[in-house]
Amino acid sequence: MLLNLQSEICNLKCGSIRQSDHNVASTQSNHESFVPAMSEIAREAGTLLMQYFQQHLKVEYKGEADLVTVADRKSEAMIRERVRANWPSHDILGEEEGLVDTGSDYRWYVDPLDGTTNFAHGFPVFCVSLALVHKKQRIAGVIYDPTRDELFAAGQGSGAYLNQQRIQVSKVANLSECLVATGFPSRKRHKNPNIHFYHQITLRTHGVRRAGSAALDLCCVACGRFDGFWEFNLNPWDTAAGVLIVEEAGGQVSDFRGGPFQLDSRETVASNGLVHGAMLNEFAQIFEGRGLEPLPDAREYNR
Ligand code: IPD
Ligand code: CA
Ligand code: CA
Repeated sequence: MLLNLQSEICNLKCGSIRQSDHNVASTQSNHESFVPAMSEIAREAGTLLMQYFQQHLKVEYKGEADLVTVADRKSEAMIRERVRANWPSHDILGEEEGLVDTGSDYRWYVDPLDGTTNFAHGFPVFCVSLALVHKKQRIAGVIYDPTRDELFAAGQGSGAYLNQQRIQVSKVANLSECLVATGFPSRKRHKNPNIHFYHQITLRTHGVRRAGSAALDLCCVACGRFDGFWEFNLNPWDTAAGVLIVEEAGGQVSDFRGGPFQLDSRETVASNGLVHGAMLNEFAQIFEGRGLEPLPDAREYNR
């Protein structure tokens, strides 16, 4: 009942940008005009997630440690319904239901619940991530953290915002003074080298946080809480919105060799720009096995 009521409210609000209005918006290249409607959808999905949070939901497994709940699926279904109602010609790639590809120039990248493992364990770090891409260019991105009521948003060329206040990346220029973040995949865990990176980068910075939501990690780089972030094997629904938000906040995003970050890039390095080169340099050294800090043996760590 409550969800139906919320749906009605969102239909009314989101209805202010329907297809005809959207055509006007696109001829004006006013990509920013998508952001308010996207924000409404992300907030509605976040409200839905909070209704399921701490309900001890049944967890299903998509892989060895790859969790999914009814909340992930309901959130994606609701987001798809809103996108179809407002922009029926747009294509959608969502984590849970896959790709609807009609050849549209517009494609949505939807992570209906980023941080499912946290969510399933009652750890309050998760969000909804929505990005809109036009001809392979990220034009708008919104990430909503319903536990803190924080809405991060960016339109291409229009800056990045947290709850409508302009945000910028940090100004820390030395890697040794940085707080950075990373994450670990839930699939093919044995094939992932990141634990070695975690070890080395921890010893070269103020610390490495691993909070469990890549989209929120990117938002934390955008607003200066973190100075950098990296992860292997993320998917486009994890990164599409957050990458635009970091770039619009003045930051830099690339692959591990400093090459451009594509929509389907599997290596993500994001930073305030000032420490980007130093991060890439550390990664190159680790890949080559140079300058690695050895593990202490039992006699050393017991001292
Ligand atoms: C996961 C989170 C996590 C990252 C994993 C992702 P999900 O997304 O972003 O931080 O380390 O690689 O798969 O599965 O919770 O949507
Ligand atoms: Ca995700
Ligand atoms: Ca997800």
